[in-house]
Amino acid sequence: MGKPAQRVAELRRLIEDANYRYYVLDEPSIPDAEYDRLLRELQALEAAHPELADPNSPTQRVGTAPSAGFAEVRHAVPMLSLANAFSDEEVAEFVARITRETGDAEPVFSVEPKIDGLAISLRYEHGAFVRGATRGDGATGEDVTANLRTVRAIPLRLRGNAPAVLEVRGEVYMPKAEFERYNAWAREHGEKTLANPRNGAAGSLRQLDPRVTAKRPLSFFAYALGEVEGATLPPTHSQTLAWLRELGFPVCPETDTARGLDGLLAYYRKLGARREALPYEIDGAVYKLDRYDRQRAMGFVSRAPRWAIAHKYPAQEEATVVEAIDVQVGRTGALTPVARLRPVQVGGVTVTNATLHNADQVARLDVRVGDHVIVRRAGDVIPEVVRVIPERRSHDAKGRPLHPPYRLPDKCPVCGSAVEREEGEVVARCTGGLYCPAQRVQALHHFASRRAMDIEGLGERFITALVEFGYVRTVADLYRLTVEDFVEMKRRADERDGTVPETVKAGRIATKWAENLVAAIDASRNTTLERLLYALGIRDVGESTAKTLARHFGALDPIMHADEETLQAVPDIGPVVAARIAHFFAEPHNREVIAALRKAGVHWPEGPPRRSEEGPLAGKTVVLTGGLASMTREEAGAQLEALGAKVSGSVSKKTSFVVAGEAAGSKLAKAQELGIEIWDEARLLAFLREHA
Ligand code: IVH
Repeated sequence: MGKPAQRVAELRRLIEDANYRYYVLDEPSIPDAEYDRLLRELQALEAAHPELADPNSPTQRVGTAPSAGFAEVRHAVPMLSLANAFSDEEVAEFVARITRETGDAEPVFSVEPKIDGLAISLRYEHGAFVRGATRGDGATGEDVTANLRTVRAIPLRLRGNAPAVLEVRGEVYMPKAEFERYNAWAREHGEKTLANPRNGAAGSLRQLDPRVTAKRPLSFFAYALGEVEGATLPPTHSQTLAWLRELGFPVCPETDTARGLDGLLAYYRKLGARREALPYEIDGAVYKLDRYDRQRAMGFVSRAPRWAIAHKYPAQEEATVVEAIDVQVGRTGALTPVARLRPVQVGGVTVTNATLHNADQVARLDVRVGDHVIVRRAGDVIPEVVRVIPERRSHDAKGRPLHPPYRLPDKCPVCGSAVEREEGEVVARCTGGLYCPAQRVQALHHFASRRAMDIEGLGERFITALVEFGYVRTVADLYRLTVEDFVEMKRRADERDGTVPETVKAGRIATKWAENLVAAIDASRNTTLERLLYALGIRDVGESTAKTLARHFGALDPIMHADEETLQAVPDIGPVVAARIAHFFAEPHNREVIAALRKAGVHWPEGPPRRSEEGPLAGKTVVLTGGLASMTREEAGAQLEALGAKVSGSVSKKTSFVVAGEAAGSKLAKAQELGIEIWDEARLLAFLREHA
């Protein structure tokens, strides 16, 4: 073997070994970065030496070119299905049957989770993966070899002494976390969501383009054999699973053995308790008679073995009817449509509401009031409407649906403020941030925070209590609170939470803290325009935008009256933020709160606007590069902007001058190349002093 061939073989072995440790042993051996480096080295070598190509090289897991369709594959040994048991009694009958026919008083079973994915068969010849197929009708499936190669948990080459022919059956599945991640992404990008992880796995394997499959994070567990040639099998199924693991197949770690009916039912309960916490979905437990001689004795009926059974858990999807569609407003003002459902048991819990996520999702599902829908509840995830059952939609005499397509309201259902939804945004929001009861706690919390109005001591617990007991509705109400209000509020909160302090029970009521709070609120009356602007909690108006606005306009009124166009003309304010600011101040409720703040004595110095078209640097574009000793680049930029300059991030012919600090690099070089004026720090400082 030549040198490249040797290295290629070595790299493949290293990568396959890392896969085995990761997927089978669940003991990752090398960091991701190292894995990626090995893979890239292998890719480069294979590209340089096409004669070393191998369809089972780990590099092939990224997916090959798309195909026109899937070929049919006849399974040498048919792929069977399992009979189901829905109650302990049915399991008892199953065990009794086995005891009767085999004479085994307490038969031993291999007990396994029933993985909710897609059954597949993998064929290996002399240790190399040659073909993979779906179950199909059990006799004939589809050849999905190229897609299966992209599933990293499936070994492309077996470890150790592999038989001449080995067919391994198991389940390809999509881990729950990956399913949730995919759907979150799909919702944000207006793509169709996956109904459940099983559909995710099935849909991904059916992709005609393996490169698409490669991007879907699928995994695999082995649980049965098909055709085998050139190997003597151990006498039990559980020993076969152990052997498969040695050969490089992941076997579900919840797999175990159990004895008799009691053993099966104990396993069922234990697994059921862990169901929600498992990283993959299961819909039951599978019990398989462990001894192969006993399996042969039991035989088959139609297409299912008599030696195995699937004991099902309550379904996580059920059908019900949408009685109404409401809208919930979250703490940040986000509007979430919610389906009110005819109560239905899903996975052992009564479900009456399901999220519809957002307006796009409602439109994609086309859910309407009165529709029959499939609801899904899995783990901690909020119940969701997965799809509508269109055949069951009611129509009027003319054949038109009884209810029109659902539309999100354009007024906030909680406070009546206008609802905004920017282009390209999935979420619609209430613009009454300062007024909306749904947003009160959030608004107050932000308002009081250190970098906003800086009201010391007004934390989450007090804010929640103030809102709940009705002491404050808007931030302006804070300024009316008295020491007595706070003391009373705390007494009520303590009573409710059962946290009444001993001193209070003894009749001594501390008031110093309340006095301090009232003083802190009073002190916050004296503020600055930029703090106030930030404190209002306009979405995307952070401290820096608040500062820019304060400087540019000098006073609050012109900001409140500015239209989107005027706001966009302010440096660093783009169309999205301009729209948010304009919508915020256009909302009468917010203006009322601001008027109330003023009336409560909140004040700030106002000055003349410092427009960029004024000042000694008006019309100049400046670029800052390198490090300055006396201040940060941001501070220098702000000072230059205050003098009318526009600060830009890149050097061009339009640049008026470049301020170059320590270790200035490519920007300085480019400025020199273009013959642009260059200032050092000393010159900058002199200029700033002169114009201070
Ligand atoms: S054994 C001869 N074991 O359930 C028995 N099946 O209804 C062949 N499944 O098509 C199947 N987890 O998709 C077996 N641990 C497990 C399983 C399992 C999930 C699925 C598989 C099969 C269906 C049978």
